[in-house]
Amino acid sequence: MKISVVSPANIAFIKYWGRKNEKLFIPRNNNISMTMDGCLTTATVQTNPDLKEDVIEVKYYGEEYKKLESNSIKQKNLFDQVARIRKDAGKKEKVFIRSENNFPSDAGIAASASSFSALTAALLIAYGLEEKFLDKKELSRQIRFCGSGSAVRSAYGGFVEFKTGKSHKESYAEQIADENHWKLVDIVAVVDPEKKHTSSSRGHLLTKTCPYYETRIKEMQRRIKWTKDAIIKKDFEKLGYCIEQDSTSMHAVMMTSDPPIYYWNGGTMKIMQEILFARQNGLQCYFTIDAGPNVHVICEEKNIKRVQKLLHDISEVQFTIVNRPCLGVRTSNKHLF
Ligand code: PMV
Repeated sequence: MKISVVSPANIAFIKYWGRKNEKLFIPRNNNISMTMDGCLTTATVQTNPDLKEDVIEVKYYGEEYKKLESNSIKQKNLFDQVARIRKDAGKKEKVFIRSENNFPSDAGIAASASSFSALTAALLIAYGLEEKFLDKKELSRQIRFCGSGSAVRSAYGGFVEFKTGKSHKESYAEQIADENHWKLVDIVAVVDPEKKHTSSSRGHLLTKTCPYYETRIKEMQRRIKWTKDAIIKKDFEKLGYCIEQDSTSMHAVMMTSDPPIYYWNGGTMKIMQEILFARQNGLQCYFTIDAGPNVHVICEEKNIKRVQKLLHDISEVQFTIVNRPCLGVRTSNKHLF
């Protein structure tokens, strides 16, 4: 049987950077995000008793299908996830998987979030563990095992919190509000669509070398509460304040790790400055940046046109992707083979 799913990426308002438990991929801090309807992964999975090995083919944005090898941490985690789910289901058949993104991968647009959540969901159904797909809390725990924390948050639509915890059972995602709660917009300003130079898997490990990391963890606890509160009350100014602070706090940790990681480029800085300037002139919008140079600009629906114009007037911006909150990972009738 062929199973297809679609999963959105998500943008973290409170970032996940660093782990409490490396084996179980438990994040050091609770993190919060919004799903993105403009950045989607479609995945099709089929079990096949004639296959000698698992085959995963991925079509990155603007490229042809490529067979994945387990030659990076993230890719190995993916093959491990296939083997783990198969074992859990008590099955033997190998799988053929195809997955396709409609946006640039690995450039701070959370491509692993949508890919890993899509693959986990499709594998669970294909191997007969549908009940684990339907129970979203359990689905989020299952997704965690593929090693991408951001993927965990795509189990649900809308606004989601991924909780740290002391055990596998305690660390899962929960929905704060669904996709219809607040029509916020995330406009991604792409200044460099190439793959990032340092993977987030490596970055999570490097947090141990940053002398300011524990300070971030301490000071962010209040921000986590404020962010949830701002989402529930739809308080845009409060949310924006928290979003920007958290992004800069995470990048400060990245830049002060040893060796340091600098994800920003000149275009990134230019956009940040323009956003601050626009706010002084009364245009409410806020920036947040993941592990890459591209900038996510968060605004309300009424200001989309003005923010788009501001971004397109910056020469470093190559293109923008407009996102609104949407459903989390769901099944689809569109098969990729
Ligand atoms: O999901 P990972 O392991 O790729 O880590 C995500 C890291 C950030 O994108 C920088 C932050 C986040 O919470 O999405």
